[in-house]
Amino acid sequence: MLGDLTGRKALVTGAGSGIGRGIATVLADQGASVAVTDLSQQWADETAALITDASTLSIQMDVTDSASVNAAVGQAISQWGTLDIIVNNAGVARAPSGQPEDDWDVTYEINVRGVVRCCEAALPHMQERGYGKIVNIASMAGHGGRRSGGAYAVSKAAVLRYTRGLAAELASSNINVNAICPGAVWTRFQQEGARVRQQADPSLADRDIEDLFHERYDPVIPMGRPQTPEDIGKTTAFLVSEDSRNITGQCIHVDGGVILRD
Ligand SMILES: NC(=O)c1ccc[n+]([C@@H]2O[C@H](COP(=O)([O-])OP(=O)(O)OC[C@H]3O[C@@H](n4cnc5c(N)ncnc54)[C@H](O)[C@@H]3O)[C@@H](O)[C@H]2O)c1
Repeated sequence: MLGDLTGRKALVTGAGSGIGRGIATVLADQGASVAVTDLSQQWADETAALITDASTLSIQMDVTDSASVNAAVGQAISQWGTLDIIVNNAGVARAPSGQPEDDWDVTYEINVRGVVRCCEAALPHMQERGYGKIVNIASMAGHGGRRSGGAYAVSKAAVLRYTRGLAAELASSNINVNAICPGAVWTRFQQEGARVRQQADPSLADRDIEDLFHERYDPVIPMGRPQTPEDIGKTTAFLVSEDSRNITGQCIHVDGGVILRD
């Protein structure tokens, strides 16, 4: 079986929703025990309830809070004795305040520092064992050069740079560090984006937000279709399995070919 994770122990951040839920359920399908962590305990519980054939933990964890991150990583290690896999998926597009100037601090704190906190919490354990797999969920937005893309795009470019640097540092410890860049996935994240566009343009007021999502993304995706949380989960399963043991410091684009556009 490709991406076999039998016996592996994983922790996924932001796993209560969307892509993180897809990752958690696919890793469990592939045989891993999964710590489902999220800012929302209720959403984490909902994802954990979908996992019936594997050991799972449901943990409230805020990636902006070192104590919370350290406690969640510690809980997984004390439950299972080891932690083989960290998937840094939690992320936001903008600040909840709706003030664009706040976006810089909020996206940096969650999307960048959140990834760093989780890696630093797990690394002493992984380095001691000489084994570990880290996957960071970045974005196609981290690559674009056509527009600035704002705080979100810059935060994802930072995740990609951090991924490469950490991979180089940890290669001799047998720890693989890779990134995945999704293109467009219909999740709460995109629902919120569609609502923001709708509120800014009165002509969109009566439109279905999922239609707005397809109208925005389908034409720019060479394969003409958005991606699913399971698409991202399957690529994650490959990257955290022994099938990819000699792949590190890379970014896999799961975007239907968006990265190929001029
Ligand atoms: N949906 C897309 O089209 C798309 C495209 C490219 C990249 N991404 C990236 O994929 C990742 C997941 O996005 P999604 O689309 O599933 O979004 P989502 O909003 O459905 O899920 C994000 C999850 O992160 C959690 N979260 C937010 N802040 C947190 C915090 N401080 N601590 C812990 N958890 C927190 C939320 O509670 C939520 O469950 C993000 O990093 C996002 O940037 C998404």
